[in-house]
Amino acid sequence: MKKVPNRNQFSKILGLSLIAILFSASPLIAQDAAADATAVEAAAGGGDAKKGKALFNQNCAACHALNRKMTGPALENVESRLSEDEGLDREWLYAWIKNSPAVIKSGDAYANKLYAEYNQAAMTAFPTLSNTDIDDILAYTAAAPAAAPATAAGDVQSAAGGSGSSSGVSNEIILGALVLVFGLLVVMLLLVNKTLQRIAQANGIAIEKEGAAKRTPIWKAFAQNQFLVIVTAILLLLGSAYFAYGWMMQVGVDQGYAPIQPIHYSHKIHAGDNKIECKYCHSSARVSKTSGIPSLNVCMNCHKSIYEYTGNPEGPSQEDLENGYTNEFYTGEIKKLYKAVGWDEENQKYTGESQPVEWIRVHNLPDFAYFNHSQHVSVAGVDCQTCHGPVEEMEIMYQYSPLTMGWCIDCHRETNVKVEGNEYYEKIHAELSKKYGVDNLTAAQLGGLECGKCHY
Ligand code: HEC
Ligand code: HEC
Ligand code: HEC
Ligand code: HEC
Ligand code: HEC
Ligand code: HEC
Repeated sequence: MKKVPNRNQFSKILGLSLIAILFSASPLIAQDAAADATAVEAAAGGGDAKKGKALFNQNCAACHALNRKMTGPALENVESRLSEDEGLDREWLYAWIKNSPAVIKSGDAYANKLYAEYNQAAMTAFPTLSNTDIDDILAYTAAAPAAAPATAAGDVQSAAGGSGSSSGVSNEIILGALVLVFGLLVVMLLLVNKTLQRIAQANGIAIEKEGAAKRTPIWKAFAQNQFLVIVTAILLLLGSAYFAYGWMMQVGVDQGYAPIQPIHYSHKIHAGDNKIECKYCHSSARVSKTSGIPSLNVCMNCHKSIYEYTGNPEGPSQEDLENGYTNEFYTGEIKKLYKAVGWDEENQKYTGESQPVEWIRVHNLPDFAYFNHSQHVSVAGVDCQTCHGPVEEMEIMYQYSPLTMGWCIDCHRETNVKVEGNEYYEKIHAELSKKYGVDNLTAAQLGGLECGKCHY
């Protein structure tokens, strides 16, 4: 009856170690909550600098930079500068930004002086901006971006390991699982060692009588302990299932595929923070089969004047810092763009020495399948995000949908075709809806399941 106490001891140690591992993992979760809490504490005060930054980039960045004279004056701390030097208040700024030509016409002395100084270059009027919008923009121009990263770096150390994003969480789950498996392995090794010693002791007597080898080989002792065998088998099964699943996901299906691009181009910053519309860059999605990647000239429409990344006025988030996404990093990426198009920043002209940027394709259907963007975006009115996911949150572009045949077909079965206002469909619709006896037709009923529609 030697095995029973062994087994009891084993389960005891197993239980204890499980508890220990769970405890050591729980701070991770607690830190997560703490990190989220700090993230929620946004900057308060007159005007939202973050919103202001987006507004600034959308409306003003074509002519103004914060700390460099462009078509118009540098706007860093413009409000305090104007009130100290010229005695102009925020009301003046409201009036100026909403309609500067009117202020100039009114004979305002400073406005006319400035206008002359800038060779009578007219600033666009912004009648649609509200006072609150302008408050936000002024909050942004007043924020000192250079000071922010230092304080944020301090925060990181106090709450290390916290990352609020979903990918961070799933990484932690995987990490937790690995820790668990590792812990179990260590415990098992210790136990095997102990049991072996015991068995060896017990068997030692018997062995001497029979005159066989003194020690039982490890594998034999192991095989004799049924509990260990079962635990190992379960672990192996779990492990191989995990890897098999990962492997199967890769065969033919590239969901989640996120290659490293030659320039770190962030959809989160462009389409998210700065609300630049998809079609500004992917203009052909509406009218043609492909969406296309914008040419570098499109980038330069904005990046002639956006020569550096000034970042979030509150400083980079902890997650960004962990990933090395600092203002300097982003600015460096903009310089890569300049190098590729051959833009001489100092003299503000093209050198003529350009080299194409070879973007790595993320989405790729096999050649034998036919997919047409305009059919889905313009005709069917499907949002980009339905198929491509939350692009405006993607720091790095990844494949969101599986892009399998089943995925296409499922949607064709479920999605009703928009018929209203579409002459081409009205007749077909009338006939087919009679045939199917329904009011709404799905893409499938229109023929969206016919092999020939998707296969050449
Ligand atoms: C088309 C180019 C252009 C755009 C776009 C533009 N500005 Fe201007 N801005 C100018 C020019 C040029 C001046 C200098 C005065 C002049 O020539 O009219 C100026 C002057 C100013 C001034 C006065 C600065 C000083 O030092 O006295 C402020 C403030 C200002 N702009 C704010 C804005 C804001 C805010 C936006 C965005 C909502 C914006 N501008 C968009 C061209 C532009
Ligand atoms: C300022 C320009 C710009 C804007 C705005 C923009 N994109 Fe992009 N997009 C790019 C560039 C450059 C690439 C190639 C680099 C990459 O894949 O990250 C790209 C890549 C993509 C890809 C992957 C293409 C492939 O290789 O398979 C998709 C999908 C995409 N964009 C969708 C969108 C959607 C949806 C929006 C609007 C929410 C959007 N983009 C807004 C510039 C832009
Ligand atoms: C019905 C699903 C669907 C919708 C809606 C959709 N896409 Fe796509 N997109 C795809 C598929 C599938 C591919 C891969 C096409 C291929 O490999 O031929 C793709 C590829 C792309 C690419 C890579 C280059 C190319 O043209 O093949 C870009 C960029 C892109 N999409 C942007 C967009 C934008 C921007 C929108 C919204 C205006 C959009 N997509 C809407 C399914 C969709
Ligand atoms: C409509 C204007 C606009 C266009 C077009 C545009 N950008 Fe940007 N870009 C911005 C703004 C705004 C920022 C953020 C600047 C800041 O916050 O200080 C930015 C930031 C960047 C950055 C630093 C952040 C990051 O994403 O890594 C890079 C690199 C960049 N752009 C590359 C590109 C490339 C490449 C293209 C062309 C495919 C492009 N941009 C097209 C407006 C634009
Ligand atoms: C988000 C839903 C959705 C997804 C995903 C989707 N489609 Fe569609 N598709 C539609 C709708 C809706 C229509 C009907 C458009 C119309 O009004 O003609 C359509 C129409 C089509 C048509 C034209 C059918 C006809 O009768 O002329 C083709 C071809 C097609 N899709 C191919 C594909 C392929 C290939 C994929 C996968 C790579 C795909 N679609 C994924 C919604 C989807
Ligand atoms: C709505 C569009 C669509 C329709 C309709 C469609 N297919 Fe496909 N099919 C696809 C796409 C997209 C792929 C590529 C899937 C991938 O790469 O995983 C594919 C792949 C395949 C493959 C390769 C095996 C595989 O799954 O990768 C075969 C075989 C095939 N289709 C046969 C058919 C037949 C037969 C029909 C008619 C009953 C049909 N398809 C109808 C879109 C479609």
